[in-house]
Amino acid sequence: MHRAAAVVCSLFLLGCQAPQGTAGPASAGPLAIATWPFGAIATDLAWQSLQRGGSRLDAIETGIREVERQSCDGSVGLGGGPNAAGYPQLDSCILDGPGQRAGSVAGLEGIVHPISVARAVMEHTRHVMLVGEGARWFALQRGIDSVPIEELAAKKQEWQQRPAPAPQGQGHDTITLLLRDSDGHLAGGCSTSGAGGKLPGRVGDSPILGSGLYVDDEVGAAGATGVGENVMRYCATFAIVERMRQGLHPQQACEEVVHDIARRDPRRYRLDICFVAVDKQGRFGAAASNQRFPFAVTTAAGTQVLHVDAVSPR
Ligand code: GLY
Repeated sequence: MHRAAAVVCSLFLLGCQAPQGTAGPASAGPLAIATWPFGAIATDLAWQSLQRGGSRLDAIETGIREVERQSCDGSVGLGGGPNAAGYPQLDSCILDGPGQRAGSVAGLEGIVHPISVARAVMEHTRHVMLVGEGARWFALQRGIDSVPIEELAAKKQEWQQRPAPAPQGQGHDTITLLLRDSDGHLAGGCSTSGAGGKLPGRVGDSPILGSGLYVDDEVGAAGATGVGENVMRYCATFAIVERMRQGLHPQQACEEVVHDIARRDPRRYRLDICFVAVDKQGRFGAAASNQRFPFAVTTAAGTQVLHVDAVSPR
């Protein structure tokens, strides 16, 4: 059996009995896994949604909407880090394994729940991705919560009072949520305000299928967080799923892709990238290039925030 990487259970939530703190054991029932400690909000709500009879997509949308609403860590939703011009531009996508259905939005302004727009693109258009003004127009047509575009100007003033943005790779995160239901079907979603201080129009990995998120219902699902440029140049989550297809445990697949990118990239391991993955059997894993990476998991046994240390450079 594959040696799962040591993971420390750092927090039990909700007073539930939680599983042992090692990545990877298969879960027969539903399992939700998400990036960062605030991912516990999403995994827990997603799991509850499934228990209430919601669909996989309901579960993904419900979990991510709450993180967007709270703008957790100032990196998701309209409270997320503004771009260099002073206003947030949001990226999101959603994928459902059966039928390989997908929806995505990028550079979305003034919309409270990008994940709902991504889902609406999937369910109500013949397209996969909408960007910028078109994405906002579509969201307004669908009646998805918005703020007046004029209010974004005020954010610019507010932004100018703040300290200079942190260098890329520090202080920007993403909610990426993966779900395996009790039938072994998979889904996932991402939402982010992207790198703080990014150029207007910059799109990161999160809305790009195969980069920030990939789901293959025959194999597994993988999601990313961190510096999008270092994820999207390597189609990293697609690469993780392909390694699971070759038989690797999700833990091993995440680690191998970090090593493979570091081997090829001039930055070596200074990539600021982190991954989570789950396979069709309900085994899960996570890996990070150069930082301790906390992530959240919810199963029937409860919700835990676990962490992996950075991979050891080869
Ligand atoms: N991973 C989020 C971004 O770089 O935009």
